[in-house]
Amino acid sequence: MKALVLSGGAGTRLRPITHTRAKQLVPVANKPVLFYGLEAIAGAGIKQVGIVVGDTAAEIQGAVGDGSRWGLEVTYLRQEAPLGLAHAVLIARDFLGEEDFVMYLGDNLLQQDLGDFVGRFQARRSRATAPRLGEEGLAVPSAQILLAHVEDPQRFGVAELDVAGRVLRLVEKPTVPPSDLALVGVYLFDSRIHEAVASIKPSGRGELEITDAIQWLIDAGHVVLSEILAGWWIDTGKLTPLLEANRLLLEAIERRIDGEVDTECQLDGRVIIEAGARLVRSHVRGPAIVGAGSEIVDSFIGPFSAIGPGCVVHHSEIEHSVLVGSARVIDAGRIEDSLLGYGVEVTRSARRPRATRLMVGDHCLVDLS
Ligand code: G1P
Repeated sequence: MKALVLSGGAGTRLRPITHTRAKQLVPVANKPVLFYGLEAIAGAGIKQVGIVVGDTAAEIQGAVGDGSRWGLEVTYLRQEAPLGLAHAVLIARDFLGEEDFVMYLGDNLLQQDLGDFVGRFQARRSRATAPRLGEEGLAVPSAQILLAHVEDPQRFGVAELDVAGRVLRLVEKPTVPPSDLALVGVYLFDSRIHEAVASIKPSGRGELEITDAIQWLIDAGHVVLSEILAGWWIDTGKLTPLLEANRLLLEAIERRIDGEVDTECQLDGRVIIEAGARLVRSHVRGPAIVGAGSEIVDSFIGPFSAIGPGCVVHHSEIEHSVLVGSARVIDAGRIEDSLLGYGVEVTRSARRPRATRLMVGDHCLVDLS
């Protein structure tokens, strides 16, 4: 079994952060989104991983390296243009060979154990070679997909199932969805998917859709099984879901204080202060994390905040926010529900008249509520 991780894509819905950073490397709970996926793949016992990269190839490669940190062997596969998920499978043909594989979207985060999902697929597939008594009639799947009930199925690939959970039909971003079951960004395939991706045509948005390739398998008489997701799933490509993912992951942290905390500080509950961080006369209410080398002075860090490495926060309050790293937040009042990119400065000067003075790049969002 191999893994194919998709880490191309322009990340337009997370601009301006993605003008300078791959969307899969935006940190949640101080760790890049992509690393959670790689951990899940390693945890499922898979070793060989192909990472499909686009314009941000160098950055992804710099962050992930050869994958040995996770016990993985990573091969980078260059996709010249973001032509769709099925196109990514097409260019990965040689890497994948005839093996079964899991395809994982690098900006997706899910709570469910990947090992169980993969294990059930492998068990169902092995019946093909060694049918056991009573199981002869069971279907051997050539694909297995993961589905989740969502409120806005129009934004996803959507499945229609029969009573046994077999997939009858799939549609990408339907205006009239046949159900509320969205395709989660984790798919399992056998080698028959290669004929499928080579047979389909680009969709209305000009992409080769994996949804259409799976529909091709169904139309060709192959069995596509589905499972409904247990636990949460977040496609982190937008601000609100990204903050939600940060909140869910911080919920699971354990208290650990490795940094320097003076006697006038108060740390409530599940708080991580990394080594090299320094806190002075400040209050941190968990769950929250303060990264290595950050300096928090006379400030309040509220629940669900992830302060990345090298940040300076003075006389400010931060809650339910992500600071990617090396931000300077000085006398800023209260900051909530925010994502601050690398090296961002938010300061208050004594200049008169009092005014909001901005130097913001393209596609920034400033909410003066
Ligand atoms: C892609 C797939 C869609 C799936 C979604 C999951 O959408 O095309 O079927 O439901 O990922 O995140 P995209 O992110 O390309 O809009």
